[in-house]
Amino acid sequence: MTVNGCSPAIHSYLSIRGTLHAMSKLITVFGATGQQGGSVIRSILQDDILSKEFKIRGITRDTSKPAAQALLKQGVELVSADMNSKESLVKAIQGSHSVFLVTTPAWGVAGSDAELVHGKNVADVAKESDVQHLIFSSLLDVTKETAGRLKHVPHFDQKAQVEQYIRSIGVPATFILPGYFMGNYTSFGMLRKGDDGVYTLAYPIGQDSQFPLIDIASDMGKFVAASLKLRSETLGAQILAAAEYYTATRILAEYEEVTGRKTQFMQIDPETYKSFIPGPMGEEMLENHLFIEKPGYYNGRSLKESQDLLKKAGFQATSWKSFLEENKSTL
Ligand SMILES: NC(=O)c1ccc[n+]([C@@H]2O[C@H](COP(=O)([O-])OP(=O)(O)OC[C@H]3O[C@@H](n4cnc5c(N)ncnc54)[C@H](OP(=O)(O)O)[C@@H]3O)[C@@H](O)[C@H]2O)c1
Repeated sequence: MTVNGCSPAIHSYLSIRGTLHAMSKLITVFGATGQQGGSVIRSILQDDILSKEFKIRGITRDTSKPAAQALLKQGVELVSADMNSKESLVKAIQGSHSVFLVTTPAWGVAGSDAELVHGKNVADVAKESDVQHLIFSSLLDVTKETAGRLKHVPHFDQKAQVEQYIRSIGVPATFILPGYFMGNYTSFGMLRKGDDGVYTLAYPIGQDSQFPLIDIASDMGKFVAASLKLRSETLGAQILAAAEYYTATRILAEYEEVTGRKTQFMQIDPETYKSFIPGPMGEEMLENHLFIEKPGYYNGRSLKESQDLLKKAGFQATSWKSFLEENKSTL
């Protein structure tokens, strides 16, 4: 008897070799101990296909921290590296088929280009190491999209500059642009309880501004997993990682529905808004929100194509209401 023209012994040898070969792809995940990288690792480990296709290497500056040790227990290889040091990145990236990259700003340090430097360092080493798929957590260039009207949002602009750099040096890449984190409302105390028991959401923009919301810890990994599964389709593309556009009105209405709390929206003037946030971050957050109001977080682009891609890969984004229900005990 033959199977596909081979004897059973040869066939089983070939299929074991095939499985081992498929298993031998390595994905290196930056920010492994954080929200986005953590989400990417969970999505791969939970996926029947990707968990067999990829071995995971998680990057941290401190392998002894609890979040890193928890990854080790799940079979993730841990490598210590700092995006400031190209030397450490060589060891971190070597042998990787794919890389997930998230960069973080040096919040509050005026004029810092740390995020741009980190992104370029990883891109350069990915190029030298012949990485086949770099998945970068990007955002739009606010200065360019507004023709210079808003030029103090470096945590958007520098990500867009890293994206341009990756494109310019020709690393095969997909760009995933995460929306506004749902957790901003629940973890950053953005909904403040007043003496009258009413929760106030204060923004320097109108109540009908559109926020593309994402449950980052749960859903960033789904978008990354979709781009790993549909690599050739997503190379060079920008994926808008958000469940839906929500107005502040709807955000509060659904918050009331799930929690039973009373809420109110308050539009405050820019100077008052800035006075709540010390240092250069005040200006940055103000302009960030003015950008969301006009021309929009994704400059008015529809989320349909990205949602279709997510569905095609077998995933579904978490709604704001589900997020609130799941996190109700911590609110
Ligand atoms: N809040 C929003 O609505 C929103 C929306 C879109 C995008 N974003 C962007 O999301 C990003 C934050 O993502 P996140 O929430 O996943 O971050 P996070 O939870 O704070 O995690 C940051 C990760 O980066 C790693 N890291 C920091 N500096 C590093 C360095 N020099 N070398 C190597 N690793 C380093 C940290 O690892 P170790 O500490 O273990 O080394 C950590 O795992 C920011 O860039 C922000 O602009 C935010």
